[in-house]
Amino acid sequence: MSDAIRYERVGDIAVLTAQNPPVNALGLDVRRGLLAGFERAETEGAKAVLIYGDGRTYFAGADIREFGKPMQAPSFADLCTRIEASPLIVVSALHGTALGGGLEVALSSHYRIAVPSAKMGLPEVHLGILPGAGGTQRLPRVAGVGMALDMITTGRPIGAAKALENGIIDRVVEGEPREIGLAYTQELLEAGAPRRAVCDLPAPKGVDFDAMHVALLKKGRGQLSPATALRAVQAACEADSFEAGLRRERELFMELMNSDQRLGMIHAFFSERAVSKLPELKGVAPRVLAEMGVIGGGTMGAGIATAALLSGLKVTMLEMTDAAAAAAQGRIEGNLKGAVKRGKISADQFTALTTQALTLATDYSALAQVDLVVEAVFEDMSVKKTVFTQLDAVCKPGAILASNTSYLDINEIAACTSRPEDVIGLHFFSPAHVMKLLEVVVADKTAIDVVATGFALGKMLGKISVRSGVCDGFIGNRILAAYRACADHMILDGASPYQIDAAMTAFGFAMGPFAVADLAGLDIGWAARKRLAPTRDARERVPSFPDKLCEDGHFGQKTGKGYYVYEAGKRGGTPNPDVPGLIDANRAELGLTPRVFTDAEITRRYMCAMVNEAAKVVGEGIARRPLDVDMTLLFGYGFPRYHGGPLKWADIVGLDDILADINTYAKGDDFFWQPAPLLQQLVADGRCFDDLNKEAS
Ligand code: 3HC
Repeated sequence: MSDAIRYERVGDIAVLTAQNPPVNALGLDVRRGLLAGFERAETEGAKAVLIYGDGRTYFAGADIREFGKPMQAPSFADLCTRIEASPLIVVSALHGTALGGGLEVALSSHYRIAVPSAKMGLPEVHLGILPGAGGTQRLPRVAGVGMALDMITTGRPIGAAKALENGIIDRVVEGEPREIGLAYTQELLEAGAPRRAVCDLPAPKGVDFDAMHVALLKKGRGQLSPATALRAVQAACEADSFEAGLRRERELFMELMNSDQRLGMIHAFFSERAVSKLPELKGVAPRVLAEMGVIGGGTMGAGIATAALLSGLKVTMLEMTDAAAAAAQGRIEGNLKGAVKRGKISADQFTALTTQALTLATDYSALAQVDLVVEAVFEDMSVKKTVFTQLDAVCKPGAILASNTSYLDINEIAACTSRPEDVIGLHFFSPAHVMKLLEVVVADKTAIDVVATGFALGKMLGKISVRSGVCDGFIGNRILAAYRACADHMILDGASPYQIDAAMTAFGFAMGPFAVADLAGLDIGWAARKRLAPTRDARERVPSFPDKLCEDGHFGQKTGKGYYVYEAGKRGGTPNPDVPGLIDANRAELGLTPRVFTDAEITRRYMCAMVNEAAKVVGEGIARRPLDVDMTLLFGYGFPRYHGGPLKWADIVGLDDILADINTYAKGDDFFWQPAPLLQQLVADGRCFDDLNKEAS
């Protein structure tokens, strides 16, 4: 027997217990152990087999770390077929998360019982694949095509009650999986219950698969796995036999397993978990965090306060006047009402949060006892310095003083206090109670336990926290500035903002850069350009059309006009007819003759600019690892998850090709297209960004 599966006999029942912490993933040892367990149970004359998991869960799926390596026997599909074919009564007792291959093992069992808190799902599409051990064939047979398609194409798990309602499990009982499983199996034996194989159930009735296929492709913005999984479910309805359906599932599974999207999504899965694990934080205790101050109750500050309140922190919101404080309160309450509407909190919790956990204030002395304060005031160094000087005067010793600046130098801000070791950047993304990314910006003198507290706060708030060093724009906005500059250059040379937006949404971004700029507010970029103007190199190509829009009072969505025109009550905008004229004037001013860009060239230049700047960010140590950049872009900038992040994308398409393209582009503009030394080094060494991730882990 394998160590990962414990075999024991309880009367007529052979009990197979998974012991593969932390999530009982179905790695090779587990699969071999299950197979051996069935053989032994059948040889020894047991009458039933009970399968359950030790620890926190039943099997949470295949061992994802084995993907991409040759599959060693028994394969998942063969194992499930073998379990289902057993002449013994097979029962699975589920707790925790029965996911992917885990649910497929359960579906191959003849009976299923679960504790009420158990969750079940087929989340394979989130890994760029589809259920590959009969899940697409068995789930529609037990739950019907509608339910199966919902679970398989969204990857969303369901609770035990819903699973029971839909015939996915047979019984829900409170207790330990072992105890409830043994009692149920015994009861089945005593009642003379028959073997009951899902494969013997008739093929389910189909739906309009072609229409759904088109809809899924559109919804997934190019993500292939949900639409491909649909085709596997279609086979459950239409194939000549269960076995033929299984074969079709296998073909489609292998198609996705060999796809770049699978590489991207699995990179995202592991990076998402690795990103906040920093070696230097091992064993470092974060400071106590119970009360938080937020300065500035605009959209950003109110969002930060909302996120903090929802995580259980007490919040003091500081504003300049009573009227501004009341407006801030209104924004926070509006956000929290949204949380009530979405079922995240109850009406009672809303009342408690707004009346007990939130305090509004207009005097800095209200922040004297907070453990951490985040300022979200106007993005101007002198304003920030005034705030920090006052915080330094009132906050208790050991309180963490954080700035939510998007660009400014945290070292300079820290230097205006008597306690730079307590100063850190906590860069949230708007709306801060929704967006997952938090850049934890570590300045030269930031104490290590302050860094640990930044990450602890991120975890409390449910954020993906990424460590960044100090530079203009940190990781995300610095890279954004580079690819946005590239987009502006392409416009000067002949592309249109709308063609660029369309090309980048076709690549998989939720929005193109110009629609994003309209959403964020064009005044933000305008302020940054004005701030940077004195230090700009004369060789830099700086367009004037974005400034012209702002000078005319058009700041994007909030003023109803930007690159697009927005009509009240309508989602999205239509191209602003004034923009081509502004661009033409800018080209004429510079003596440029526009040329035609293909969508492919737009995408390639845009991505090369992103990768090149990202490589500089890693090379300079602003981001510790390539995966830090990838997670920043994924969780803060709408980068399509199925490409894994810009540097994973670069690895997949090939660093040498990317460098060659950058060198070609440099012939037209050798100032902008200076290749990143790290990229050159990796190409010279025949290595890739992921090698650096591995070295750092
Ligand atoms: N394989 C390998 N490692 C896994 C894993 C898996 N399926 N699932 C989780 N892990 C690892 C995580 O990487 C993490 O490792 P770390 O501690 O070194 O970072 C550790 O287990 C704990 O995971 P989490 O931090 O995510 O723990 P949570 O308690 O927050 O979540 C979970 C648990 C809900 C099970 C979550 O880990 C999860 O969603 N896992 C993936 C489940 C999944 O996608 N299953 C389907 C796999 S594909 C499949 O089965 C193919 C089949 O159809 C043939």
